[in-house]
Amino acid sequence: MDYKYSNVLSHIKRSEIRELLKWTRKPGLISFGGGLPDSTLFPLKEISKITDEVLTKKGFVALQYGPTQGEPEMITALCNHMEEFGDIAKPEQVCVVSSSQQGLDLLSMLFLDDNSPIILEMPSYLGAIQVFGRCNANMIGIPMDNEGMDLDHLIKTLDELKNNGEKPRFIYTIPDFQNPSGITMSLERRKKLIKIAQERNIPILEDSPYRELRYVGEVRPSIWSLASGKGVIMLKTFSKILFPGMRIGWIVGDEEVIDKLVVIKQSVDLCTPSFNQYILAEYITQGFMKQTVVKAIECYAPKLNAMLDCMEKYMPEGTKWSKPEGGMFLWLELPNHVDTKDIFMSAIEHNVAYVIGSPFYYNGKGSNTMRLSYSFPSIEQIEIGIKRLAKMLKEII
Ligand SMILES: Cc1ncc(COP(=O)(O)O)c(C=O)c1O
Repeated sequence: MDYKYSNVLSHIKRSEIRELLKWTRKPGLISFGGGLPDSTLFPLKEISKITDEVLTKKGFVALQYGPTQGEPEMITALCNHMEEFGDIAKPEQVCVVSSSQQGLDLLSMLFLDDNSPIILEMPSYLGAIQVFGRCNANMIGIPMDNEGMDLDHLIKTLDELKNNGEKPRFIYTIPDFQNPSGITMSLERRKKLIKIAQERNIPILEDSPYRELRYVGEVRPSIWSLASGKGVIMLKTFSKILFPGMRIGWIVGDEEVIDKLVVIKQSVDLCTPSFNQYILAEYITQGFMKQTVVKAIECYAPKLNAMLDCMEKYMPEGTKWSKPEGGMFLWLELPNHVDTKDIFMSAIEHNVAYVIGSPFYYNGKGSNTMRLSYSFPSIEQIEIGIKRLAKMLKEII
């Protein structure tokens, strides 16, 4: 058959990372690759019990199609969950989605035309870059320092765009324990970012899968709550704090945005699986979610500590890394002449793997960087793996 494919394909790059991560199946290899939650945390017993209850008490509704915006019980549970973490939203401001990746997709459909300018951090989340790239957005990257996006650079960029008669459709940021860098935006920057965005009438898209996973330091209010929701759209998911297998996330935004988003979502999947929503709504309502977050923090905090200690002990001179206070990732920078893609197979020979940094730059930069995830391996594996990686880097550098 002579298939005639759409133009969309020409905007999507096959994931280099997936190709490389194939090698991580090697027996004995320790991987700091994918951002997987620790599966020993998955609450199998509780989910199994609640699933039985849902089937018994609400099976005929739970297995039916549901409202596109989400099951009302789920939306109420989500509002309560957010309130526990300082974010207030009304039910009309919430739309349940099939994971935050779908959220990114729907929001891109809602806001982007061919070549629309958007602002994003550099580096930024690969999945978002893929969606924005598929929409053929004009991505404009803003460098980061330890406090998040460089706002002087942002202002300069916005001024330049304005002089050309352009305005970004949104500013995409991951303010808490960013994927991939692990950096958290300071309170002062959050406030300043809101001010800049509001003055220029640009929406902020706050992607926040890791916010609940803070291990040290003071909680920073979300951009959503600092702006009282004005001009901010927040993207949330249970993938990192609970598990990704049910693909449940949600979008919080003003009613007008949610209303339009629902129309788009109708055309995409009619609704997010009702069954999953009923189960997770019960999970939250019965009080398990709070406990889940506590357990996740207890599990990941020592892993982050172990990784930071080992980096300090073993990494050779000429390397530098972020010092995250939560989340799942640490970002390692090597001297400019080292390309982490070129040395990837050498790492595999040393029985350790990482994620190369350049795909997190929409423009292919960052070849001397890598992302290390500490959420999945055990503390013992972290120690052995970092030692192996450091040994290899010492040889190369
Ligand atoms: C910043 C960010 N946004 C969105 C996602 C996608 O999460 P989900 O599993 O809900 O699609 C991820 C997953 O790694 C992420 O790091």
